[in-house]
Amino acid sequence: MKTTITKYICSECGYITTTKTGKCPSCSSWGTFEEYHDAPSPAKSDTPRVKIMSALDVKAPERITTGISELDRVLGGGLVPGGVVLIGGQPGIGKSTLLLQAAGSVAKSYGVPVLYISGEESDAQIALRASRINTATEKLYLYSGSELNDALRNLDGNNFAFFVLDSVQAMSVDSNSGWPGTVTQVREVAQRVIDAAREKNIPAVLIGHITKDGKIAGPMMLEHMVDTVLNFSGEGYSSYRMLRAVKNRYGSTDELGIFEMCEDGLRPVADKSGLYWNRDDVSVAGVAMTIALEGNTPLAAEIQTLAARTVFPYPRRTSRGIEINRFQLLAAVIERRCNIATNNHDLYINVAGGLSLQDPSADLPACAAIASALKNKPLKPGTCWLGEVGLAGEVRPVTRIDLRLKEAARLGFQSAVVSSRDKVKFDGVKIIRVSHVDEALAGLLVP
Ligand code: TYD
Ligand code: MG
Repeated sequence: MKTTITKYICSECGYITTTKTGKCPSCSSWGTFEEYHDAPSPAKSDTPRVKIMSALDVKAPERITTGISELDRVLGGGLVPGGVVLIGGQPGIGKSTLLLQAAGSVAKSYGVPVLYISGEESDAQIALRASRINTATEKLYLYSGSELNDALRNLDGNNFAFFVLDSVQAMSVDSNSGWPGTVTQVREVAQRVIDAAREKNIPAVLIGHITKDGKIAGPMMLEHMVDTVLNFSGEGYSSYRMLRAVKNRYGSTDELGIFEMCEDGLRPVADKSGLYWNRDDVSVAGVAMTIALEGNTPLAAEIQTLAARTVFPYPRRTSRGIEINRFQLLAAVIERRCNIATNNHDLYINVAGGLSLQDPSADLPACAAIASALKNKPLKPGTCWLGEVGLAGEVRPVTRIDLRLKEAARLGFQSAVVSSRDKVKFDGVKIIRVSHVDEALAGLLVP
């Protein structure tokens, strides 16, 4: 007689075992094991199926644009038929709103039926939201309920051009294999949605919940299964929302989309630099401007430094928006390579607007801001600073300089301080070439 062995799977890492333990031996998480059932093995076919690579068709996929500019850009130009997108984010960030807008917009602009499946909210709640964001059309169909097979059955014979599933954790496949949201259910739901999208050759979007540490809840392999993973996030109490691709099989992952949550839904923000720059206080000592790159999006950033005299032997170094070790390193470069004493001052650095700068091009503006604060002299107005700084105080070139300078010109900067080794083609702003931080500061501090 064949005995069945019960298997267990870790919901964090997918480790499978036959003994259920409290702690996963693979990823050390506690209490993550759930019962696991093998998927039925596929029927064997006799003919081997390999293909010659160069003989394959390489047509770029035809995109379905959602009409929401920022979403389309992050997707790499729009949705791809048969492609599945997973979008994750904190509760209340606006995932349902964004996808309802996208669904309504596709239905309206293409005049095709679109299906919105919701396992989370009632008809009345969704209808209320749709009327609030003015997206209800006769081509937009709604299914509310949590039985996935019942929901997907509607795709047959209805010619839907696109569907949204809100959310992958709220749907269940068979009532006997656990609660919605468990590892096995989430994986099964995702797999069926992927199969349905591929079979009908239409795009699908899955909405996903995230865990406390910001990862999409459910099995890790969920992100491997889909074609595109988007992360929708916001900061604190701000009404601005950021959309980034974490994975994209049909485009790049370095685009940033910015939205503002308004009374009538999410609005794409076109002038992104305006978000982090108030354009007034640039002639204050300790303030330097730069153009940072978030993927392909240039953003004006304002770096502010404050130097306060201290009598303590260990002066404070506090940083927000720039990594603290980098800030300390740049302060040391100013001290040693430019002969400006820093040891009798507490130094604070901040990137205005809550922006966080990872781009090394912020080194030079940070150095300029530190020197300007210590000398208590403002920097030359109308100037932006772009350069990486090395330990010898040398100024190194930055990536995509022309794109940054174009944005600087658009925002009304008259001059830009760049590395002498930068290859600049753009001539819309006056270029000040420097090879050392010391040289950059000479003449650019207003006496
Ligand atoms: P929602 O899309 O339900 O978030 P999620 O699906 O990610 O949980 O958005 C809910 C929040 O958005 C809610 O707190 C109210 C706000 N909101 C607006 O400010 N304006 C609007 O037009 C809509 C529809 C929602
Ligand atoms: Mg929601």
